[in-house]
Amino acid sequence: MTAEHLQQDFSKAREFLNEAMKFHASGDLEPAEQYYVEVLKQSYRIPDILPLLAGVVGARGKYEAAIAYWSDLLRIRPDHPVALLEKGALHLKVGQAAEAVSCFEAATLGSPDNMLALNNLAVALTQANRQHDALEKFRALVQHQPSNVLAQHQLRRLTSRIVPFWHIPMLNDAPRNDAFEAAIAKAIADRGPDAQILDIGTGSGLLSMMAARAGAKHVVTCEVVPIIAETARKVVEQNGLSDRVVVVNKSSSELVVGTDMDCRADILVSEILSSDLLAEDVVETFEDAHKRLINADAIIIPRGATAVGCLVESEILSKYAFVDEVSGFDVSAFSSLAPNKLPIHGTMTEWKRLSHDIDLQTIDLTVPIHAGEYRVIDIPVTSNGMAAGIVQWLKIDLAEGIEFTNHPDDYSDGGWLQVLHPFPAPISVVQGTTFKVVVGHDRNSLIVMAAPLLADSVSNSFS
Ligand SMILES: C[S@@+](CC[C@H](N)C(=O)[O-])C[C@H]1O[C@@H](n2cnc3c(N)ncnc32)[C@H](O)[C@@H]1O
Repeated sequence: MTAEHLQQDFSKAREFLNEAMKFHASGDLEPAEQYYVEVLKQSYRIPDILPLLAGVVGARGKYEAAIAYWSDLLRIRPDHPVALLEKGALHLKVGQAAEAVSCFEAATLGSPDNMLALNNLAVALTQANRQHDALEKFRALVQHQPSNVLAQHQLRRLTSRIVPFWHIPMLNDAPRNDAFEAAIAKAIADRGPDAQILDIGTGSGLLSMMAARAGAKHVVTCEVVPIIAETARKVVEQNGLSDRVVVVNKSSSELVVGTDMDCRADILVSEILSSDLLAEDVVETFEDAHKRLINADAIIIPRGATAVGCLVESEILSKYAFVDEVSGFDVSAFSSLAPNKLPIHGTMTEWKRLSHDIDLQTIDLTVPIHAGEYRVIDIPVTSNGMAAGIVQWLKIDLAEGIEFTNHPDDYSDGGWLQVLHPFPAPISVVQGTTFKVVVGHDRNSLIVMAAPLLADSVSNSFS
């Protein structure tokens, strides 16, 4: 092609570009797009035209097309910061969080001080369900911009999602702490300061620090949540115990003897009991520890735990578990969607006991294997009433003579809550009769069900 031809081609392209920019400036985006496309066809100033075209197409809501134009530009200029940011934003708009993450990661790599890119990366990571990575980025952002209110807000939101609220009341639960410390001190007195201690579920590091205070020289503790593990390391260091307590940011299932700890543990400490006994993978975690991480004669704290409960009547609890007529409508069908367990808090503590305390299910943590099980138990009814369900709490066997319970009569505001296991509907019960309940566990959760509602063969003992 001669210089003359080139001159001619570009003049046409310039003409198209003028038209495009005129329409673009007046907000008439459809013709603006068409003219920009014509300019591109002339291969004129491609890297300058693609951003304009992508912007117009994106503004017209054609996100996929806009992404394609930004991709064209990135093929020519892989580090183009605007292309990376705009393409990432469009991916987020169309729900492609992983692709958005890639764009924003590239943008932050190219310019680490670009706080917009860092913020967008944190947002995209959150949307991609990479909470821990998102948290790290929001923390970096807040470090750079301490007065960035939105980043501070996101950081706190994300932290709250990752770290359950009960950590703080649990740490302030002095009776719980004292019971664990007594059991830990007893075990170390028994096995000596050279015993290898394993604490599964570091949290703040409290139980490990108690072990060190009792004289233990070798404590390894694992914590699966990165930000909790990092904070625990800080806490252990602030308490001057880093030489004796090693925090490993891993799930116990990932721990390797010989790598993370020198040898199998002589003492296992682990407080991973949920309010309803089993929800925090207690069974699998302890089974795995028995198999791989502790000696056959290891002291185990706690040795076991029991879910205890009683039949209750309560207007307030019934309002959480059942619904009948509302504003003149029969919405009782919605009761079938009620939760199978309800943590009790606030005014929910107002209930009347219809039976004595009954051990519902015990889990022996010193045995290496557990099978799911359930059975029917008879609960003697001590008062007439409409039973809404069973209120349940924990009794924890920490060591010989050392027990902890969150019995509702004298425990509130700790880490554990009492739990209502509601029946599908209120059931009338009569003093002097017995009420049959199915209790057990499926290894991951506690089973508590009213037997009379299950089948005719187990019914009628209550009326
Ligand atoms: C209830 S808190 C107890 C914290 C601390 N041990 C205490 O008693 O104050 C349990 C902690 O264990 C962690 N965790 C639960 N199961 C775990 C496992 N299998 N491996 C590592 N960490 C675990 C949780 O993330 C949580 O931080």
